[in-house]
Amino acid sequence: MSHETENTNLQRRAFMTGAAGAGFAVASLAGATRAQAQEGGSQLRDFEGKTAIVTGAARGIGLSCADALAARGANVVLFDVAGQIAEVPYPLATQGDLNAAKAQIEAHNVQAITIKGDVRDMAAQQQAVTAAMDTFGSVDFVIPNAGITQTGFLEELSEEEVDLVLDINLKGVIKTIQAVTPILRQQNSGRIVTMASVTGRMGSQRFPVYSATKWAVIGLTKTTAEALGPHNVTANALCPTLVRTGLLENDYVLSTMVPGTTLEWEQFEGFAQQMHMLPQGFYGPEHVGNVAAFLCSDGAAMISGDVLDIAAGFNARFPA
Ligand SMILES: NC(=O)c1ccc[n+]([C@@H]2O[C@H](COP(=O)([O-])OP(=O)(O)OC[C@H]3O[C@@H](n4cnc5c(N)ncnc54)[C@H](O)[C@@H]3O)[C@@H](O)[C@H]2O)c1
Repeated sequence: MSHETENTNLQRRAFMTGAAGAGFAVASLAGATRAQAQEGGSQLRDFEGKTAIVTGAARGIGLSCADALAARGANVVLFDVAGQIAEVPYPLATQGDLNAAKAQIEAHNVQAITIKGDVRDMAAQQQAVTAAMDTFGSVDFVIPNAGITQTGFLEELSEEEVDLVLDINLKGVIKTIQAVTPILRQQNSGRIVTMASVTGRMGSQRFPVYSATKWAVIGLTKTTAEALGPHNVTANALCPTLVRTGLLENDYVLSTMVPGTTLEWEQFEGFAQQMHMLPQGFYGPEHVGNVAAFLCSDGAAMISGDVLDIAAGFNARFPA
């Protein structure tokens, strides 16, 4: 097989499997300097020499974002609380999860640094930026992803419960963006991909404060796109629907979705299938990671201030 034919085949396979970013990455494929064969298929390495900071990276969507970036060659700072926050009523990631995440990222022949910290702690967030700069010399991709969920009608929630979700889901994202902004401005480059939610696009009475934080994350993302656009930094928000992660697959959520009953996962799965237009219930976090990687790629250079639904067609019901 000629070198040229081999490269064309590698690019076609990457496109068809969506590994290059949900099928959007034609421009990125064309501009890629090389494709590298890896176990299980072929993979672009267009992020080599780049550095990502991902919060909430020990598992779930954050880990999938880190993995999708690392698969394309980015070094990653994995930031996670990696321990229980007492007030959160379901298990968060553990130190073991964070260690396993590091090993998973390093399997892509890139470097990973772990920072055990809480996004509510500005000093910890700055530590992640300092680690990225000292070790890798740049911060190219920022994924403020860490978040928790909470169910319950608004009038049932205590002030402490409200504050917890605001402090993590909104102020945590604010702090991540504050921590990276001086570097991105100085570099005159960078990509920020925030993790909102479909509940940030519509009302959600069972998740009222969570929903409010996700609307706010979208507003914050658009403001960031406006503020940092002149510095060649893009900022976009992702809105997944129902992703199979520890945030939803836990006793707390299953027992509060329908008051007075505890759902089996299969019943919850049926709900997800009814919601989506595509024949799909809960989907895997890799579907979000791939889109985040696309938004960090050359192919997405002119996309900023945008809100992208990853909704298996549910958003077909939204007004344009
Ligand atoms: N799962 C879904 O269906 C879904 C849908 C839409 C949006 N989201 C959003 O995606 C993001 C990731 O969710 P996920 O589904 O992967 O959940 P998850 O619970 O599996 O992962 C969240 C990660 O964040 C970490 N974390 C939580 N609080 C933290 C804090 N204060 N500081 C640092 N780390 C913290 C946890 O330890 C965990 O590793 C969240 O912002 C969530 O709101 C999830």
